[in-house]
Formats: sequence, structure tokens, C-alpha cells
Amino acid sequence: MVKLETKLRDRYGLESGGAQRPDGLVDAGWATCRGKRSINEDTCYCAFHKDDEGQDVGAFGVFDGHGGPMAAKFVRDHLFKNLFGHQHFGSNLARAMEDAYQETDGQYLELDAEHQRDDGCTAVTAVLLGQRLVVAHVGDSRAVISINRTAQALSKDHKPNRADERGRIEGAGGAVVWAGTWRVGGVLAVSRSFGNRMMKQFIIPHPEIWQDVITEANRVLVLASDGLWDAVDNEEATQLALKWRAAGAEYAARALCMEAYARGSQDNITAVVIFFLPPTQQQPQH
Ligand SMILES: *[C@@H]1O[C@H](CO)[C@@H](O)[C@H](O)[C@H]1NC(C)=O
Ligand SMILES: *[C@@H]1O[C@H](CO)[C@@H](O)[C@H](O)[C@H]1NC(C)=O
Repeated sequence: MVKLETKLRDRYGLESGGAQRPDGLVDAGWATCRGKRSINEDTCYCAFHKDDEGQDVGAFGVFDGHGGPMAAKFVRDHLFKNLFGHQHFGSNLARAMEDAYQETDGQYLELDAEHQRDDGCTAVTAVLLGQRLVVAHVGDSRAVISINRTAQALSKDHKPNRADERGRIEGAGGAVVWAGTWRVGGVLAVSRSFGNRMMKQFIIPHPEIWQDVITEANRVLVLASDGLWDAVDNEEATQLALKWRAAGAEYAARALCMEAYARGSQDNITAVVIFFLPPTQQQPQH
């Protein structure tokens, strides 16, 4: 593992980091690796802030670029700002999240006034307000949570061949065509994303939202780009992360990237791991 880790760091840009909620009950870490490609179009977000009422807010995201890294970086830098500034952030987080996705997409398209770019990115984001978790996504970056001993996907990949997505695209006058995989207009292998100006009437930035309260049954949440999910399934990802729990979330995120790489994933790989620690395991406070 150490040898692979050194090789990934030196040759494939394995990077990682982490953040802990001040109460010590949430440990989050991220890792990204550009795999066998030369530029990393994936990026991520992983931080805790205080909201206006002084409550701790955890914000996490994985953004997988296509056609260039610009959209992924822009969305990483603006999506949570838009979310935190939203008038309903404290009262209706799901609604605020939906609006923040749309607003950020609009800002990205506006930024490029000469219409030179046509890149885009997927997003899977999670916001933890107290114990309330809201997950949103566009595209095929995925969120998976452990419930007791099983893994459950909290997002359903936006693939062009998903029946409802295909219906929506065809209804808007588009076509879903087989070209190595199912693609919108024979080009794009996701049916929703940020950016992608030329296909915006089909490639919408509207997120699907999942929300619930984190309980003792939930131990880990994994957000990752398809570079991970192409090589590691939902169950394996949560099990592997939990196996490294004692080493911390940053290390667990690195372990996930390394596992996907060792299994031959050719893509950018980015993972965010969030451990929820039961209060009983809290360090005694003196
Ligand atoms: C990342 O993945 C995207 C999508 O597969 C690809 O277009 C891009 O070239 C890759 N870049 C890297 C850094 O792999
Ligand atoms: C998880 O397990 C506990 C204890 O066995 C049980 O009470 C609870 O209903 C389970 N939760 C879920 C969501 O399955």
C-alpha cells in the first residue's frame, strides 16, 4: 500500500486533505488522483463553516469535469457561496440547494460571454446542518451512505439511457444515441450537468435532492466521481472506508482512490469520505 501510495503521489498527483467538525463527531476527508490521464478534471470541496446562528455546517462536493477543468473549478468555488447566501438556506435547505445549482450554472454560462467554451461538470454535494443531511446531484458522480450494515445510494446517476431522462431529452427534441456508451446527441455520456452550453436544452443543471436525519444507523457517507464507481461498487466503497475508520477520513479517502487505481480505473478518481461518530465514542471532555 505504501509503495502504491508513493507512486500515485509522485506520478499521478494523489492529493488529499481533511476537516473535522468542532464537536468531534464528524470526520471528513478527501482525496483525488488524476489516474492515467494527464490533467485532473475532477475537483472537490470539504469544509466546515459556522452559519449565522453559529451552527456548524458541513459542506462536501465532488465535481467531475468533461471537456476541460474550468466548469468543475468554477462550480467548486461558487456553488456553496450561492447556497450559504440563499435567503432560504436556514429554512428550506433543499429549495436553497436547487436554486444554488441553477444560479451557479447561469453564472458559469454568463462568464464566458464569447461562447468559447463548451465544457461542463457533474456534481454531487452534501450539506450537513446539525444532524440533517441534504444530498443533491447532477450527472454520474454518486453519494452512498451506510445504513446499519448495508450501503444505499442517495443519488441515481443521470445517464442518458435512464428511462425518465431519455424521455425528457426526447421530449425536448434531442436524441440518445449509442456511441460506445449511451450519449446525448451521440456526444455526452451524462444527461444533466453544469455548463455544456451547446446542449443546454437537454443537459439541464436541475439537481435531484435526497434528505434525511443522520442517526446511529449511519456511519459513513462516500461521495465520488465515476472513476471510483467504475471500479468499486457501493457496498465495497462503504466497507473499505469503514475498514480504515481508525486511520481517519482523509486516509480512508486515499485508500478508496488507491483501490480504484489498483483495479485499473483509467479515469480521474476523486472521493470524499465523511464518518459520523456516535456520541458515545466522543473523547471525554475535561
Ligand atoms: C478526467 O476525466 C474526464 C472525463 O472522463 C476526461 O475528459 C479528462 O480528460 C480526464 N482528465 C483527467 C484529468 O482525467
Ligand atoms: C438499524 O439497526 C437498529 C438496531 O438493530 C434498528 O433499530 C434500526 O431500525 C435499523 N435502522 C435501519 C434504518 O434499518
